Amino acid sequence: MDHETTPVLDAIEQFRREDQYTFALPGHRLGRGIDERTAAVLSRGAFEADVINAKTAVPQAEELFADAVGARQAVFTTCGSSISIHTAMLTVTGPGRTILVDRNVHKSVVASLILAGAHPVWLRPRWDHENQIAHPAAAADVAEALRHHPEISAALMITPTEYGTGADVRAIAELCHGHGIPLLVDEAWGGHFPFHPDMPTAAVRAGADIVVQSLHKADGGFCQSSVMLVGGDLVDPVDLRLRLDLITTTSPSPLMFGAIDGFRRRMVREGRQLLTEALERAGRLRERLDRVKGLEVMDSSIIGHDAVAEWDPLKLSVDVSALGITGYQAREWLESECGLITQLGDSRRIVCSLTYADDDAALDRLATALERLAGDPPAPESPPPAVPPLEELNLDQVLNPRDAYFAQTEQVADPVGRIAAEMISPYPPGVPAVLPGERFNEAVVTYLRAGKAAGMTIPDAADPELKTFRVVRE
Ligand SMILES: Cc1ncc(COP(=O)(O)O)c(C=O)c1O
Repeated sequence: MDHETTPVLDAIEQFRREDQYTFALPGHRLGRGIDERTAAVLSRGAFEADVINAKTAVPQAEELFADAVGARQAVFTTCGSSISIHTAMLTVTGPGRTILVDRNVHKSVVASLILAGAHPVWLRPRWDHENQIAHPAAAADVAEALRHHPEISAALMITPTEYGTGADVRAIAELCHGHGIPLLVDEAWGGHFPFHPDMPTAAVRAGADIVVQSLHKADGGFCQSSVMLVGGDLVDPVDLRLRLDLITTTSPSPLMFGAIDGFRRRMVREGRQLLTEALERAGRLRERLDRVKGLEVMDSSIIGHDAVAEWDPLKLSVDVSALGITGYQAREWLESECGLITQLGDSRRIVCSLTYADDDAALDRLATALERLAGDPPAPESPPPAVPPLEELNLDQVLNPRDAYFAQTEQVADPVGRIAAEMISPYPPGVPAVLPGERFNEAVVTYLRAGKAAGMTIPDAADPELKTFRVVRE
């Protein structure tokens, strides 16, 4: 296929060249209707590219994308990976059906369970006691779940995690296929994986049946650009399109499509070189940070730990606990003192997402800031919250997520022993600590309240202060 072509970008350009005037949407008429203030901030070019009929070029751009990454089909979406996950889940499961789901999932997976009315069998991630983080489950865990629950009709995993540790997708896909069921992989951070051999194995090439990628997370898409990749023949791509049609907008943004189209062309032409340079820069940054007393940087030695089969070298995870501060505090310090925004801060570490767009100057600025932090750390603001082992935070799913979500509810100050009717997802990464239908225990309530006091952001709780919790009325 000719990867020099960019069908969506071409369609936008062509519309602008031709003597056409639209009396259809959008009403700003290629930006004529916007004022200088709006143009100064958003740029007139963005409005001039808002050519809605460019969507007719999307099927051709999707074919090119599929070819570039080795998928059977690619489907672009414009409401983020959240809508791609809803679509993928509604394609492989439905009311009353059972799906094996990684418990380390993004909240959009839980929302999909509620929409689909499906029953989850939870696949527990492996808890790394030494680093106090969750890694993906092992193939053996999947095998055991499939043995115990023959009613499972699909499986979903998130890999790599927000810390960059990945599952053995190939082995898990083989297991799923041995049972005749499709495997969905949330690979939100891996839009560039197919373009370089030293990145984690792209899930679509390892046998996954549907793969969801956010192209705005570590790649060249505008926010909300996402793609679903279909591999194998267990999923009917027509079903996928019908489910997307059910829930997505009828006015998708050409800007999203155009950026995806351009990203694919760039990656085919130069992706290997750009990613080689990004990997080299990340390696040099790690070497520099390894020399800084008080910082512990995750590296490839994490592979083989528990079930970690892959590791994303462009996720920079730095443990700052030896400095006597939390990752929340380090994150805040980096922003207020150095103007640097990190992807994540937790009780022990910060995580930065490094991409092909970061140059030497950017990484030098980050390294210098971390050296400063380690040399003169701020006084601890509060004692670091105790992170209980994951097993203590495992809650029993006593009601289907959909039934709990739509039940009669009430807000209570002491939820221990009660059934949750809300999602509570520390963000980032947005993995629910509690989800509808699970029974609250003491450990999770203490963990959330202590985390909140230490700086954890929890945007989705019914009561953002966590003074009360939303439970099913008994
Ligand atoms: C692993 C994972 N999956 C899915 C999503 C949802 O992606 P989006 O924000 O593009 O809707 C996120 C977002 O943070 C994520 O981290």
